[in-house]
Amino acid sequence: MPRSDIPPDAPIGVFDSGMGGLTVVRAIKERMPNERIIYFGDTAHLPYGDKSAEAIRHYAQTIAAFLVDKGVKALVIACNTASAVAYQLLHERYGHHLPVINVVHPLVESLRRQNPSKVGIIGTKLTIKSGIYPRLIRQHMPDVEVISMPTPLLVPIIEEGYIHHRISDVVLNEYLRDPALQGIDTLLLACTHYAVIKEEIQALLPHVRVLDSAEPTAEYLQEVLQDRHLLYRGEAPSGEDEYYVSDYTHTFERMSRYFLGQTIALQQMDLWRNESLPFEADTSCG
Ligand code: DGL
Repeated sequence: MPRSDIPPDAPIGVFDSGMGGLTVVRAIKERMPNERIIYFGDTAHLPYGDKSAEAIRHYAQTIAAFLVDKGVKALVIACNTASAVAYQLLHERYGHHLPVINVVHPLVESLRRQNPSKVGIIGTKLTIKSGIYPRLIRQHMPDVEVISMPTPLLVPIIEEGYIHHRISDVVLNEYLRDPALQGIDTLLLACTHYAVIKEEIQALLPHVRVLDSAEPTAEYLQEVLQDRHLLYRGEAPSGEDEYYVSDYTHTFERMSRYFLGQTIALQQMDLWRNESLPFEADTSCG
């Protein structure tokens, strides 16, 4: 579909491995309440952070194709892991006819505005391994010291609903007390799930600026939609939001209600039915 054929009342496509991307949806809704959202949470493949870049690119491409088929006017990769390893690919494939937005660049831009000197970054194993944040920070803020740390237990804890709970407390204490993070003035939550426990993190690091990608991404999306005359200007919602998951879980439904403050009708959609992965599965046990 040529760009000019996309109407402003078309929905915005958003995806993540699970419910972390809902933090981005909430920020989008706060800024642009009448925009329609089609969300995909790839719960069947969660967590993304422990998988290979190749697997994540494969999942991301399939989800993006599903959302584009649904007629979205923009694609928001509401996952740092997928942004780190699949943004380039999705941008090359779809960027010529719709905006493809990742969560990494808006977060780095919001960091730049803070003028930091020592920055800690926590994220999934794959996001940290990709080195995307230190690379971008070096490019734009060469004098800033950067410490990166994978914190892989946090996504399963959040997806299981252990928020404001002694389990999240113990794990956060273990991670955030790491001597490597001593002396940071800013902590980047380089995983959209972590925005859910931002208050807990902030309470443990009261003197550190804690930044997440939800609001910066929503702000950037709004600017891009405006620039491209794709912002919906109607006085009422442009239609019903749709929320898909690749594997239904009660926790997702319960937590998503808690996040978005509304009841959402979850639809299960297995985009990979009958499909074998296009790469060798690792069958070794250890
Ligand atoms: N919300 C995803 C991110 O921002 C979580 C990744 C995962 O499923 O491990 O990276």
